[in-house]
Formats: sequence, C-alpha cells, structure tokens
Amino acid sequence: MKLISGSSNPNLSGHLLDLMGAPIVEAEIRRFPDGELYARIVDDISGEDVCVVQSTYPDDNALEFLILTQLAQDLGAASVTGVIPYFGYARQDRVFKAGESFTARTMARHIQMAVDRVVCVNLHKEAITEEFTDARCTHVSVMPHIGEFMKQHDIQYILAPDKGAAEYARQAAEAAGCEYTNLEKKRLDGRTVSMAPKDLDVKGKKVCIIDDIIATGGTILRASQALREQGAESVFACCAHGLFTGGGRKMLEKHLDGLYSTDTIENPTSSISAAAAIADALLK
Ligand code: R5P
Repeated sequence: MKLISGSSNPNLSGHLLDLMGAPIVEAEIRRFPDGELYARIVDDISGEDVCVVQSTYPDDNALEFLILTQLAQDLGAASVTGVIPYFGYARQDRVFKAGESFTARTMARHIQMAVDRVVCVNLHKEAITEEFTDARCTHVSVMPHIGEFMKQHDIQYILAPDKGAAEYARQAAEAAGCEYTNLEKKRLDGRTVSMAPKDLDVKGKKVCIIDDIIATGGTILRASQALREQGAESVFACCAHGLFTGGGRKMLEKHLDGLYSTDTIENPTSSISAAAAIADALLK
C-alpha cells in the first residue's frame, strides 16, 4: 500500500509511514491565487493500492479529500482507501428539527464517491459508519492508546462528561486499569452546559476527563468543576479530536492540571498519535 498525505495531518501521516513502512506518494498540493486547490500526484500509482490520509474538517480539507481520492481513482489506483482522522459534521448525526440537513449522512455519501474503503477515527456516533452505502467503513478507536498514556501519568479515575462518551471512557479505563463513570450533560446553548449532580469517588485522586471532541471547552470546564468540588487531587482532560474553538485551549489550560489530545487534529496538545490504531485497521 502507498500513502498519499493530504494537507490536514502531516505528523500523523509521518507516524503511519514509520509504522507501516508504506512508501509515501509524491503529491503537489497548493492553492491558486484565488484560493482554489491545485493537486497533482507525481508518482505512478496505476495498479497500486493507495491510501489517502486527509481529515474532512474544516470545509477546505473536505474538498481536498474529494479532489485527492478522485484523482487517485482517475490515475488508475487498484484501490483507494480514505483515512479520515477527523470526520467533520459528525455531530449533525440525525435530523433534530424538521427541515434540517442530516449533514453526517450528506458527507458520508459524498466521501464514498471515489473510495473503496474508509477508515474513520472515533466518530461522534459509531452509527455514522452505516451512512456509507457504497464503501466499507471501518471505525477505529484511539481510546485504548489514550488509556495507556493515562496509565503512564498514574491516572486513578476516568470520567466521561456524558452518556455518549461513556463507551470511550470504558475503553480508556480498561487500558489504564482504573475505574470510570459518566455524568449526565444537558446542553443549554452552543457554549454552556449543565451537569446533573452525581457522587463521584474521586477524593484525593488523579482524575482524567475523556471525551471524543473538545470544541469550546465548555463541557470539560463544567466536568472539571464537578470533580474539584468533590475533592479530586488533580484534574486532567484528554480527547481524540481537539478542535479548541474560540480560545478553548487557553481557557482550559488555566483550569486543568494537563490537557491532551491526539493528532487527528494537529495542535499543541497533540501528545498521543492515532497512527497505531489506524495502521492496525489498514494492515488487517
Ligand atoms: C458532544 O456530545 C461531544 O462529545 C463533546 O462533548 C462536545 O462536542 C464538546 O463541545 P464543547 O467543548 O463545546 O463543550
């Protein structure tokens, strides 16, 4: 298999290259003066199995994914696998109000146009894999790797801020060898959440809050306050996808003892690589 690295995840692509020993395909990706994307694959990929590594967030990256996968198909690749470290629009995973776009479905239907297979990392809801009707979708979780990282930091308790993240917390806790539980979150608006009170056995413990995504940081902030109120000795947070919108990272760094994410969205907190989880799926 040969790798084509899009612009979104150069570090992650480098780790994948090291783990898989797969050669990287030389590609020229740049922008025309008007902002439109120019893409050229320089190497001959005819008859090769190729893998395009590219997130579909923000929108420019989604377009680059479509352009690169279509190009690989046009150049006669034997198979095209799309590795999507962060799948954008996953949170619009159903129609909440009549007349709304089911955007996760729209994205899946377009993403699958020029690929045989897709590998997605910690989707907001795993059920989104079913929206790929013409390509096989493999869902991989970096949570065991997050758990191993937490074990090195002697984390004694893992907390998911809501029911949706409970399975991810379970996977991380299993690898870390510690207890876990989840809170019940209610979203009041885009930046504010409330959490139902719950007794947590965290007094004097090092605790890590685990979530799939951190965006504004409002969810983690509220969960960290609940943990401090109940006597946690130190509070860390870790997510798969660190979006950190609107100054969320700096705000959280003031409140936490440590903030970590993976390289599905490359940012200063990316301390854990998703490459091993992706490589396992690709090599299978
Ligand atoms: C939503 O259910 C997700 O799992 C995250 O909890 C959410 O996206 C975090 O958003 P924010 O950081 O803005 O609270």
